[in-house]
Amino acid sequence: MTFPKGFLWGGATAANQFEGGYAEDGRGLAVPDLKTVGGVKTPRRFTATVEDGVYYPSHKAIDFYHHYKEDIKLFGEMNFNVFRMSIAWSRIFPQGDELEPNEAGLKFYDDVIDELIKNGMTPLITLSHFELPMGIVEKYNGFSDRRVIDLFVRYAKTVMTRYSSKVKYWITFNEMNFGAMAHGELTVLGMNPHDTTIYPDGAKENEKVRFQALHNALVASAKVVKLGHEINPDFMIGCMICHITSYPLTPKPEDVLKRKEFDLSFTKFVGDVQVRGVYPTYMATYLKNKDIFPVFEAGDAAILQAGTVDMYTFSYYMTVCVTTDDDAAETGGNLMGGKANPYLKASEWGWQVDPIGLEYTLIDLQDRYDIPLMVVENGLGFADELKADKTIEDDYRIDYMRDHIKAMDSAIEKGANLIGYTMWGPIDLVSAGTGEMKKRYGFIYVDMNNDGSGSLNRYKKKSFDWYKEVIASNGKNI
Ligand code: BG6
Repeated sequence: MTFPKGFLWGGATAANQFEGGYAEDGRGLAVPDLKTVGGVKTPRRFTATVEDGVYYPSHKAIDFYHHYKEDIKLFGEMNFNVFRMSIAWSRIFPQGDELEPNEAGLKFYDDVIDELIKNGMTPLITLSHFELPMGIVEKYNGFSDRRVIDLFVRYAKTVMTRYSSKVKYWITFNEMNFGAMAHGELTVLGMNPHDTTIYPDGAKENEKVRFQALHNALVASAKVVKLGHEINPDFMIGCMICHITSYPLTPKPEDVLKRKEFDLSFTKFVGDVQVRGVYPTYMATYLKNKDIFPVFEAGDAAILQAGTVDMYTFSYYMTVCVTTDDDAAETGGNLMGGKANPYLKASEWGWQVDPIGLEYTLIDLQDRYDIPLMVVENGLGFADELKADKTIEDDYRIDYMRDHIKAMDSAIEKGANLIGYTMWGPIDLVSAGTGEMKKRYGFIYVDMNNDGSGSLNRYKKKSFDWYKEVIASNGKNI
């Protein structure tokens, strides 16, 4: 195996999916706090206010807020040397636009970060992971309002300064490419205003609004990258792209062309701007031709150029096919769906498992950008069964991860400068897509059900010891 010395091995989480404590110590309401539990076929409902008798999974989640010491100890036991988490913006600025931060919120993250370091992990922090404060949604309609750029910068400056000596790795926005769909070939749930961080009300129907909000968020991201480098020149700051790797369903030139356009819009556009600092030709032309090119205010172009990222960080779970044949079989996917690949098997949630696609992706990204790469999400959501003796035999998860780790190894051999791997959900947590607990990713089982019942006890799955050994041997013993 070829994993370089010092390779970062760990797991990834998001505040709203595992912290709970949604109203504690002054935290304000954020978008996910108003989302109910759904399922494979039932979308999550977004309610205008917290309704009586409705279960909102983010409120308690798996209660990391009160279990962080115990959980971090378990991550340390697995030999993690990196841990990805997000900071909940509304813990720091409850409404999103206060002038002064909430000290209790900062203190919580002081404690978590110290605990991580004590247990041998370097923190990797996402500043915004689908958890916009509701104050920003209500007063500003999210990133459609340019004033939100400075609110985000104020928040980022506060936490980057506070943790500058303890945190080296940062990500600005999680999967901000969800709304970058140019042609609408696939069903993308993420451009719904309440699904992700960037896209305001009306964004789904109105492309102009959508791409303007995305532009404002890209400017905010670039400003924060530049600011981060001023706060500490050693910071490594990344983008976070939901990399939906795709293939033409057939070699028919129409399918090949359509797939290319999907790749250049949804999958590559946002990363291209964040890595290269300019709008790429294909998407710039698309936006101009449709007369929806976003308003660039004076200085925006220079800001994008000055705030390019240090690493290309991305999620990879599954792949889809693209075709002009509307009747081709469908498959599910990460906040979106696509056409099924007849050569691949899918999980219970319809995500098609494709480790070779990860090797393909790493080779492609290295050649395109030539900067360090990090896989910051990858994993298998499965309805694990807790047996009477409290064990969980998750060999399917071990198989999934082994195949993806082999794919990373092979890509490194072919030149990919891959510096780390944080698999998604090292401890079971709430699904972003469906709000379920039943869709489990962890090495650690949490006794918590879709309806909020459960003891919250933690149990090690079979994969726990397996991953521990993978890390101890730096990827050799898989
Ligand atoms: C990514 C998100 O899209 O996929 C995570 O960044 C999310 O927040 C993960 O949890 C897996 O998706 P799901 O819907 O299975 O939770």
